[in-house]
Amino acid sequence: MKIFIKSTLVIAGFLLATILRAEPVLKDVFKKDFLVGAALNPSQFCESNIAEVEIVKSQFSSISPENVLKWERIHPLPDQYDFSLADKYVDFGLRNHMFILGHTLVWHSQTPDWVFQNAQGKPLTREQLLARMHDHIRTVVGRYKGKVNGWDVVNEAVDEKGGLRVTPWLKIIGKDFLVKAFQFAHEADPQAELYYNDYGLENPMKRAGALALVNQLQAAGIKIAGVGLQGHYQLATNSPTLREVDDTITAFARLGVKVMITELDIDVLPSAWAALTADVSLKRKAEAGLNPYTNGLPADVQAELVSRYASLFAVFLKHRDVVGRVTFWGVTDGDSWLNDWPVPGRTAYPLLFDRKIKPKPAFFKLVTMGVAASNAGAFNRPCATDSGMAAQQ
Ligand code: XIL
Repeated sequence: MKIFIKSTLVIAGFLLATILRAEPVLKDVFKKDFLVGAALNPSQFCESNIAEVEIVKSQFSSISPENVLKWERIHPLPDQYDFSLADKYVDFGLRNHMFILGHTLVWHSQTPDWVFQNAQGKPLTREQLLARMHDHIRTVVGRYKGKVNGWDVVNEAVDEKGGLRVTPWLKIIGKDFLVKAFQFAHEADPQAELYYNDYGLENPMKRAGALALVNQLQAAGIKIAGVGLQGHYQLATNSPTLREVDDTITAFARLGVKVMITELDIDVLPSAWAALTADVSLKRKAEAGLNPYTNGLPADVQAELVSRYASLFAVFLKHRDVVGRVTFWGVTDGDSWLNDWPVPGRTAYPLLFDRKIKPKPAFFKLVTMGVAASNAGAFNRPCATDSGMAAQQ
């Protein structure tokens, strides 16, 4: 009996110690709300960066490929596909039972020039480009049929004014290139979820264009599962506003599609666009101020970042019935593309884990919010009757 009591106490003590030691887990606290994802690079899915791999496995329920499924990587030459890294990415997701994203099939960027030209360097005809698009989608989506759960079929097809962006896809094929891309993807894997993905849809003019586009796709019989709001947001300009994010989610939800936040990061650095377009003397002056936090993020900016993440997640939680996934564009600040875009060599702080791979204050804030939401059901109210937004604006 004594031995039984003793061993029971030891086991109970061990369990308690494990619980107390346990790191909070993003994917668990938001489990009832939405998937939580991260975009990965090869050092993570090939498991060479052990510390980051641990974070990916423990914290995230979904993964996106930051670059390895883009056309230039997977199909670099007309007769050459290279699946080496993409296969490793997909295997990593399967081994860890994650929701696996494919990003992206039809885009104007990171797509080689040859895609739009014949062997003599002359533009392809509509039929030739459609055949090339069909071959690419059938080959890539077909290879991962039943493994990749959802595809960003078309990326960034709408311009800032809400029209279709003028790209070789549009110029050569015409505006039905989107319908065709979705049809080819559906044909290659009828079970996969298919999405339209873009940035800046919070801007009402651009949003109107994307809403019209989704409408047209639906009218053409396309089963579009969701719209991805990339979510590359800025701290300095407080852009977009929470109201815009809220209205955007509501507007797409009305069309009966899910909304995914697909590439979330919050840039704390000053906007570089003015400097990029300025003349040389002004440019030098502006560049000097573009990289202010090389020695660490000041406490007040860190606090602003926490509060911006918290208010955005309040909006996502409010719309948990239609928000299917929130994916961060990277794992740690050190990985972020914002260190090199739109100007190279800056020190960016847009994510939830720092350069030492430790959780940042924003991480703990979101975990607390997730726990509170699942405990209290506080965010369960329908959108129309929720008055919390006004207070957070
Ligand atoms: C970015 C990657 O993060 C960078 O590594 C790469 O150099 C350029 O592309 N919108 C998208 C993503 O849909 O694919 C982009 O990813 C970021 C903007």
